[in-house]
Amino acid sequence: MRFPAEPFRIKVVEPLRRVSREERERLIRAAGLNIFAVPADSIYVDLLTDSGTSAMSDHQWAGLMEGDESYAGSRNFYHFEEAVRSIFGYHHVIPTHQGRVAENLLFSTVLKPGDVVPNNIHFDTTRANIEHQAAEAVDLVIEEGLDPAAPHPFKGNLDTEKLDRLLGERAGRVPLVMLTITNNSGGGQPVSMANVRAVREVCRRHRVPLIFDACRFAENCWFIQQREPGYAGRPVAEIARELFALGDGCTMSAKKDGLVNIGGFLALNDAAWTEKITNLLILIEGFPTYGGLAGRDLEAMARGLREVLNEDYLAFRINQVAHLGELLDQAGVPIVKPVGGHAVYIDAKRMLPHIPQSQLPGQALVIALYREYGIRAVEIGSLMFGHPDPNSGEMVYPQLELVRLAVPRRVYTTEHMRYVAESVIELHRRRERLQGLRITYEAPVLRHFTARLEELESAAEPDARAGTRPGSAGGPGAVGAPPAGPRKKVPSGTPGA
Ligand code: F0G
Repeated sequence: MRFPAEPFRIKVVEPLRRVSREERERLIRAAGLNIFAVPADSIYVDLLTDSGTSAMSDHQWAGLMEGDESYAGSRNFYHFEEAVRSIFGYHHVIPTHQGRVAENLLFSTVLKPGDVVPNNIHFDTTRANIEHQAAEAVDLVIEEGLDPAAPHPFKGNLDTEKLDRLLGERAGRVPLVMLTITNNSGGGQPVSMANVRAVREVCRRHRVPLIFDACRFAENCWFIQQREPGYAGRPVAEIARELFALGDGCTMSAKKDGLVNIGGFLALNDAAWTEKITNLLILIEGFPTYGGLAGRDLEAMARGLREVLNEDYLAFRINQVAHLGELLDQAGVPIVKPVGGHAVYIDAKRMLPHIPQSQLPGQALVIALYREYGIRAVEIGSLMFGHPDPNSGEMVYPQLELVRLAVPRRVYTTEHMRYVAESVIELHRRRERLQGLRITYEAPVLRHFTARLEELESAAEPDARAGTRPGSAGGPGAVGAPPAGPRKKVPSGTPGA
């Protein structure tokens, strides 16, 4: 692959503080070996999430100065509404301050207890917002989407046979079908246009609307242009129009492909849903022309949504992430393949086979990456999803033990990515020296955010008690959707899930 060169030059610089190995050691110990508790200004390359971490362009920053902070009817709202209508094609545009609010508004309006919402794989907050309405969130991604090594070009595709069966069996209980593009919880894998069309057809037959979770829509449409027969050379903006025309609306966290630090929306064609949602919006977010945002934020979002469709940008973006994956792969570091749109996932189970899951190999890798190189990644494995079996009390561990390196948009140079690759490769060479960890404090829910840990002194011993979660969670699909055990009802917004 060609070395991806940046299609921008740098006008404003945010200095990164150099932190010594000793200081990092002190900070990570003070944080109880929990990377969430390390102050961000002590991190050199921060790959915790690609959400809200984008760098805005000079055009977006200039737009902030043109913010109209009128309570009602701000001109920036009209710019934003026009951008959303022209890109997504849906008539009703409801601004929210981030994606999960759009989810909450939609589900609390259209779901009743006992309803079902299928998706390729629900993101954490989507699932949690559905379950908050006492409804059921069902993941129907294709088999390949659950296999970290399957070389399928569209591993985010939804299994339409399973969807057809579900819509038949639960007729009248499925108010909407969702498709997450790209499929974050499955490793940022894209959905093909052919699959969207097939899903649309099943939805049409069963008279159920199709709503996209569109957080990374531009990245998904780029993959369609690159990989799907018939789309080579077609403008990504045109592909997006074709894709969204197959659905009835979308929820959006603009913190990803909106290229902003805060913002989101819901866009719909249905006037009756819109009316109910708008009334709720006024109650919990704000007046319909600002929805929890400042006028300037709406302007930045309007401009970011157009910029993200720039194909020089997209080529750089996707190739930068792919390049990082390729450097690791070539050096023998086990990663999830093919590399998705926004992140590279290291397979910690394969990299550190001497550390049993009960001793948290993914977290051991995260800690070593920070301690040795000042890099922040996030564990998506036993610390995040391990839980006691409700009957036996024995610990159950997820099938996959991953570490996500999520790449913020337009923030780091390719040289930073090379630094990350060299660091991971060096750590991989010395991997036998990494030690397992033990939890010393954990909260009853979402323990990974606040857990405290310590290192085990002796070499890891095989753990006889370690069970492995049963079922088909054989891929990154397990990431955002732990299949077994009691579900946690609290929306997490888990960076890394
Ligand atoms: N849907 C998907 C597919 C997401 O990846 C996220 C956020 C959301 C919805 C919620 O959006 O954070 O604006 O409320 N993902 C972030 C991540 C947190 O790190 O993957 P939000």
